[in-house]
Amino acid sequence: MSETYKTHFLPDEQHTKILAESLAKSAKKGDIFFLKGDLGVGKTTFARYFIRFFLCDNEVVPSPTFTLIQSYDTKDFPLWHIDLYRLENPEETRELGLEEIFENGVCLIEWPERMMSYAPEKRIDLSFSQEDEARQVIVKYLNKHETHEHTKI
Ligand SMILES: Nc1ncnc2c1ncn2[C@@H]1O[C@H](COP(=O)(O)OP(=O)(O)OP(=O)(O)O)[C@@H](O)[C@H]1O
Ligand SMILES: [Mg+2]
Repeated sequence: MSETYKTHFLPDEQHTKILAESLAKSAKKGDIFFLKGDLGVGKTTFARYFIRFFLCDNEVVPSPTFTLIQSYDTKDFPLWHIDLYRLENPEETRELGLEEIFENGVCLIEWPERMMSYAPEKRIDLSFSQEDEARQVIVKYLNKHETHEHTKI
């Protein structure tokens, strides 16, 4: 599995916003972002800033903790925000239609570990961790083509 990665320090939400917006700006149809890390580490916060890049400023971006999936229309692709915390078994990945979603849109997935073997190999892993009030994230590109624009970030 080929990979490149970079660590970003996120001392406050403003830093999370800047990173989320820069990744949103270069996102392309088919991109799958895995948002990993413990409870409360900043995954939804990142997803909200990413999604808001495409929406009007005051539009509400709810957490999909209970609905599992939220979708948003953008000019170039459907954008999906998925939270698998409540997925009871990896087989449900198929029932949710995630395979089709992966091909046709851009996905942000919280608690992607719940998918187990259904996890796509070509993806961007964002592994969040917390130290006191600050956050840190390691952005790792798995099986991305060397020239993909994301590698600049
Ligand atoms: N870069 C940051 N610096 C400081 N605080 C942050 C940062 N990012 C997020 N937070 C704060 O962390 C708290 C939890 O964030 P969030 O809900 O995004 O976590 P989560 O990883 O989605 O949690 P869960 O696993 O429960 O869904 C919020 O109060 C948020 O304001
Ligand atoms: Mg969350």
